[in-house]
Amino acid sequence: MISGAQQQVELAARFTLGCPCTAEYFMEVTSEAQLAEALDSARRAGLPWRLIGGGSNVVPVDYLPGLTLQMKIAGVSREPAAEGRVLLDVGGGESWPELAWSTAAQGLYGLENLVLIPGTAGAAPIQNIGAYGAELGDILQSVRVLDVRTMQVKFLTADKLKLAYRHSLFKEDGGRHFVITRIRVQLEEQADLRLEYADLRERWEKAGAVKHPLEVAKIVRDLRLKKLPDPAKVPNAGSFFKNPLVHDETYQRLLEQDPGLVAFPLQNGQWKLAAGWLIEAVGWKGQLSPTGVGTHDRQALVLVNPGKAPGSEVLHVAGQIRAAVKHRFGICLEQEPGNLS
Ligand code: EPU
Repeated sequence: MISGAQQQVELAARFTLGCPCTAEYFMEVTSEAQLAEALDSARRAGLPWRLIGGGSNVVPVDYLPGLTLQMKIAGVSREPAAEGRVLLDVGGGESWPELAWSTAAQGLYGLENLVLIPGTAGAAPIQNIGAYGAELGDILQSVRVLDVRTMQVKFLTADKLKLAYRHSLFKEDGGRHFVITRIRVQLEEQADLRLEYADLRERWEKAGAVKHPLEVAKIVRDLRLKKLPDPAKVPNAGSFFKNPLVHDETYQRLLEQDPGLVAFPLQNGQWKLAAGWLIEAVGWKGQLSPTGVGTHDRQALVLVNPGKAPGSEVLHVAGQIRAAVKHRFGICLEQEPGNLS
């Protein structure tokens, strides 16, 4: 028995992919003390455990043995910061889309390109969320973590987090023993907008080039609604694969083979291939498997699960897509959401 936990809890509604999933024990945690106590109980009972955030970037198995925790630590507070800057301390269970929208509405710069990304603040550093020319790493100052080996709480500054494209320390073996309980983001009262994403810049200019973060947030919202399925209506976990990073040699080879290839140059001489294009090119865009898992008809990089099929089926279809891309282009697509087991 785990004190305060419910038993045999159906969690499908807590995952944006809608996959059926039952937890042996389940509990929401609203404080660091409660988190530490729950982990201690699981350990004493010899039970495995895992923690979820907003459930928007994971593929769950049907049954989760042991204890499943959901991060619900709340609270947003302003910390002392340099002139012109605003440092926000945010509970790991706070909703990311609410945080991003409300800061943009307050006229604070930093999160306006990252509005509408589903999930919690505490999960955002794990894959270093990014969209429309911005990444969390641009404005993340530090995270507060519980080290589950020592049960000590500490701050880790962003430079220690190995933040890269959809990557962080928390995805490596050396970082899996940390649970993020709070994050600190540094926003600006006055700043330049980040408008490198061509479609965003064009729309912003067309709309009158107003220099306010909410203006950018509104355009990003429109772009997202146009391309990405609403998980409340069509179960999905956003982009299912990372955009592959390749050397120039590989890029040139692929371009010769397929002159329509979509790729973006990076500063280090590598190229970021548009995985959505690769998936579309092998014929998977808008296609559904017999169990109803497939890709979105307006964005092939997003796997959809309208029939709320099990996680195993989602992974099976992802494997078929990966094999087709590998066969035609020799490129291995890397899964973006984590597997929850
Ligand atoms: N494309 C196609 N067919 C498709 C989809 C895309 O040809 O079905 C091509 C288009 O040429 C398009 C290009 O791919 O111009 C890039 O597409 P898009 O701008 O929609 O972005 P993405 O690379 O597919 C990434 C992020 C998204 C983020 C957008 C916007 C990753 C893994 N995904 O997608 O993030 O919203 O850029 O910045 O980097 C997420 O991580 O869940 C997510 C939605």
